[in-house]
Amino acid sequence: MTTRRDFLVSAGAGLGAAALGGTLPSALAGAPAIHTNPAAGPVVIASANGLEAVRHALATLQAGGDTLEAVIEGVNIVELDPADMSVGYGGLPNDEGVVQLDSSVMHGPSRGAGAVAALEGVKTPSRVAVAVMRYTDHVLLVGEGAQRFARQMGFEILDTLLTPEARERWLRWKASISDRDDWLEPDETGLGESEFLRELVPDARRVESRMGMLDSADGVRPWGTINCCAVDANGDLSGVTTTSGLAWKIPGRVGDSPIIGAGLYVDNDVGAAGSTGRGEAVIKTCGSHTVVELMRQGSSPTDACLEALRRIARWTEAQPRLRRDDGRPAFNVNYYAVNKRGEFGAAALYPSRFAVATPSGAEVRDSAAVFQG
Ligand code: GLY
Repeated sequence: MTTRRDFLVSAGAGLGAAALGGTLPSALAGAPAIHTNPAAGPVVIASANGLEAVRHALATLQAGGDTLEAVIEGVNIVELDPADMSVGYGGLPNDEGVVQLDSSVMHGPSRGAGAVAALEGVKTPSRVAVAVMRYTDHVLLVGEGAQRFARQMGFEILDTLLTPEARERWLRWKASISDRDDWLEPDETGLGESEFLRELVPDARRVESRMGMLDSADGVRPWGTINCCAVDANGDLSGVTTTSGLAWKIPGRVGDSPIIGAGLYVDNDVGAAGSTGRGEAVIKTCGSHTVVELMRQGSSPTDACLEALRRIARWTEAQPRLRRDDGRPAFNVNYYAVNKRGEFGAAALYPSRFAVATPSGAEVRDSAAVFQG
């Protein structure tokens, strides 16, 4: 809940930014610039699908757990949940119907980083990323090599992570991409509906209503992800980002989530940041690293997220295929940030939400937005 103190702090920060030539006062409508932690102590922030993750992570911190343990246990809840079709088990597949997962982790106190990309068959890629950090001298393992490493580390390797619901959604997409290919919409067959056909071949249209939460700005290609960052009462930080990536991607496509500095960045002297949304835009602007560097220079977490997003909007001006008719980006990107003092914030190109847990409770709040619609 926004307190009066939050509002006053927000107003002050907004004016300061305006004096530096920013556009914050209008951009900040609906969300304060600085979210403080009134109870002092640990803070966990995540994308809006991470309410249970932040709640669990905060409890881990309050029980004396390390920030890395807290965020990994938190996102594991979402990775293992087949109902979240943006992350881990149940995630939406690539163009060939194969679920390929990306994840990165950073542990502030030890300056550790690990990541996996295009990993198949493991429900919890975040844990494999931790293993890369803990047991190798490398930062990023990809594809078959990442899977072989996971097997060697004792992870269970499944033949597929594709759930029936994700498969139905994929089939629906195959049928709708072109009216000249050999894939047919169910109503093009003339066979009609029957119990026999429904059991034989699932009808993707039945899952359509459950997918609303995943629809991105273009309504077609979801980029769901979970990012989760934590600071403990000592000011130590960790973060994790984990995803099934862009739905229907070209096999082998890697988004921002496993790229250190893009989908995640943690500097234990400053703060932590992560992203969800169109990964290509985040990679090209070194998004999460940018957010942390802006915090290092004195920006509040929310202001840092907004400035990093304005860079994305600026880059998009040169790419007509990524712009709406009004010239604004035709996609969304979210940043989430927390600093060493426990101040936190989130912002997106378009109105969005984020999850946060402090000793006062866990809730989903409005993010600041660069554009209101
Ligand atoms: N941000 C997730 C992705 O683009 O893969």
